Amino acid sequence: MTSTSDSVHTSVKEYYGKTLETSSDLKTNACSLASAPHPLVLDTLRKIPQDVLGKFYGCGNPIPLGIAGKSLLDLGSGSGRDCYVAASLVGPEGSVTGVDMTDEQLSVARENIEKYSEVLGYMPKLKKLREAGVPEKSVDICISNCVINLSPDKPRVLQGVYDSLRDGGELHFSDLYADCEIPIAVRTDDSLLGEGLAGALYVKEFEKIVRDIGFACPRILAVSHLQIYDSELLAKTKGINYYSVLQADENELDRGQTATYNGQIQGNECEYRLDVDNVFKQGVPVKVSGNTAALLEHSWLSKYFTVSGPAGESGGPIETSSIESLMDKARSATSSCSSVKPACCGSA
Ligand SMILES: C[S@@+](CC[C@H](N)C(=O)[O-])C[C@H]1O[C@@H](n2cnc3c(N)ncnc32)[C@H](O)[C@@H]1O
Repeated sequence: MTSTSDSVHTSVKEYYGKTLETSSDLKTNACSLASAPHPLVLDTLRKIPQDVLGKFYGCGNPIPLGIAGKSLLDLGSGSGRDCYVAASLVGPEGSVTGVDMTDEQLSVARENIEKYSEVLGYMPKLKKLREAGVPEKSVDICISNCVINLSPDKPRVLQGVYDSLRDGGELHFSDLYADCEIPIAVRTDDSLLGEGLAGALYVKEFEKIVRDIGFACPRILAVSHLQIYDSELLAKTKGINYYSVLQADENELDRGQTATYNGQIQGNECEYRLDVDNVFKQGVPVKVSGNTAALLEHSWLSKYFTVSGPAGESGGPIETSSIESLMDKARSATSSCSSVKPACCGSA
């Protein structure tokens, strides 16, 4: 049984540093949940050393395209797969900082940077930090892949992310969520912790935390249903459905605005998918909510969008997909699938 913050950290370090050798040792399909990465990302994955790929324990693809020159932070970067992908996308002018607390994972990430730089053709500005210590307002984009569920103090972690972001910065992350509040017996079970099943947040709790901190218009990029292969873990979590979710939703108000995408994000020239509800074809004005208009006008995405319209009085809510309906959809998509453990996702 796990209770204090220290014992949670010790247990997590033990799990990712010693218990797991490669992603095929995981007891859920978390690391193969995401849809296939974008071809640009796939191309980069082929260049990443196998030692790094083999210890990938993420549950999604939280790295946006169009980030050349940006400063990116990967919270809980593990063996560094996402840092390596991001280093290629931010290019020689951008920088990537990976933060992790497990020595064994950090070593793999560090040891392969030189080899990777030979393939990239330049030495990426890739820093690997043991502890956070990231200056306030220094980061354009923070990514995190299946890490926040492992923290015993999620509001503190998310507040740290918020403080590290520049104005207009964004957190893109993938994590595990439950469709109900998780009972205390599950929350404190060591065997469920490392796999992300004990610390997963009820999706409504997550929404409250990020709103309280001040994050603007959190939005959903994708939802997938998690399958648990291990019968003991399955029995312990009976009645709880887990999902991998990329971000969350918000009520959106119509303020009479449209946004037009200029097609200049490499790899997304024809279409840019901001989230499940906002998809932009190049050159075609799309009606957007006040929150979305503000994000497209003031964040790092502003150079790719033109927002038109007066930002006037609210014309009422704009329909957005509810997390419940997306979870239902994801669950029915997996109910017809085989529960046989697939080959895992460590290799490209
Ligand atoms: C599920 S693994 C994911 C690793 C990596 N994001 C990936 O996709 O392969 C979780 C990682 O988060 C790290 N971690 C958990 N809590 C942390 C914390 N509070 N600070 C830094 N790293 C943390 C663990 O050491 C582990 O490497």
